[in-house]
Amino acid sequence: MSRKISFLSYKGGVGKTSLAVNVGATLAQQGKRVLLIDLDTQANASIWLLGLERWNELNSRNGASTTLYSIFNPGDTVLADCVVSDVVKDRTGKTLLPGLDLVPTGFDLVDLDSDLESGNPVIPACVIFQEQLESLEDDYDYIIFDCPPHTLKAAQCAIFCSDDIYVPANIDSLSLIGFTLLGEKLRKFRRVSSAYLKSGRMNRPAEIKGVVFNAVDPEADVAIAEARMQVRLNQFRNWKLAAPNAKVFQTRIRRTRAIERAVVVGLPVPSLGVKDQEVDAIKSDYQDLASEISRQTEATEQAHEFFQHASGF
Ligand SMILES: Nc1ncnc2c1ncn2[C@@H]1O[C@H](COP(=O)(O)OP(=O)(O)OP(=O)(O)O)[C@@H](O)[C@H]1O
Ligand SMILES: [Mg+2]
Repeated sequence: MSRKISFLSYKGGVGKTSLAVNVGATLAQQGKRVLLIDLDTQANASIWLLGLERWNELNSRNGASTTLYSIFNPGDTVLADCVVSDVVKDRTGKTLLPGLDLVPTGFDLVDLDSDLESGNPVIPACVIFQEQLESLEDDYDYIIFDCPPHTLKAAQCAIFCSDDIYVPANIDSLSLIGFTLLGEKLRKFRRVSSAYLKSGRMNRPAEIKGVVFNAVDPEADVAIAEARMQVRLNQFRNWKLAAPNAKVFQTRIRRTRAIERAVVVGLPVPSLGVKDQEVDAIKSDYQDLASEISRQTEATEQAHEFFQHASGF
């Protein structure tokens, strides 16, 4: 079974897409099979990895659509039809990073929040999405969701299907406000969606595993921001929204122009070939974060197994 993780925040521009793309690419580089699913109608991850030309082509296939939105019209397309295998290519079309696949989105995903157009108002979008995702789960070690900065239907698909939620944040106070709002929205969504969760161990609701500070200046003092986030995490743990070991991650992703450069050339940071101190430094940040995420996942699983064992299940 794959590990399904969301990069989710109620605040825009904090690094959801750059973390999803670059952590996904780092894991693929380490030999993991990774599927990145773009659930944001801004399509930033899709355009970044496909390039504008390939992405435009996808949008213009009216009728024979293979964008994510089409799976919500029963009978049109299944999620597996939307997968672009080994999405990272060089200019000649040669695969640069085997193992990183993408389900791209088009601008049409915005229609998901209009009941009139969503095709099937009886079955919630998140349930349709989960059913479609099941057929892909054995093919991947990680399925990573790049989420929009809200908790409307597309984000709900990710939340409903995820094991883990990682919350990117900047060290400003607005990120803390966004985190507080996110907790309230997650709590409400969990309440209304619980009837649709299948029974069994693999269908626990998604838990917040931690906060990742992104775009941090090397000389910045993060102590106060970290302490405030930790207080909020503790509160979410009491609400059972966050894992018992949820934390502010030790790894911080530094602020660097290498991200902008990666977007311009249409490659994830780990695939940038240039020898450059700034690029090497951020590659190593993403490697540290990928390792910390793997350790956090293992620790949570052990904690859950211990709990199940202790309570006789
Ligand atoms: N470590 C970093 N250093 C410098 N710039 C960064 C870094 N990470 C992200 N950025 C830049 O910050 C901006 C926002 O990043 P990103 O798109 O990843 O955020 P987001 O949370 O996905 O935004 P949205 O809510 O709009 O989806 C982008 O222009 C991106 O290139
Ligand atoms: Mg984004």
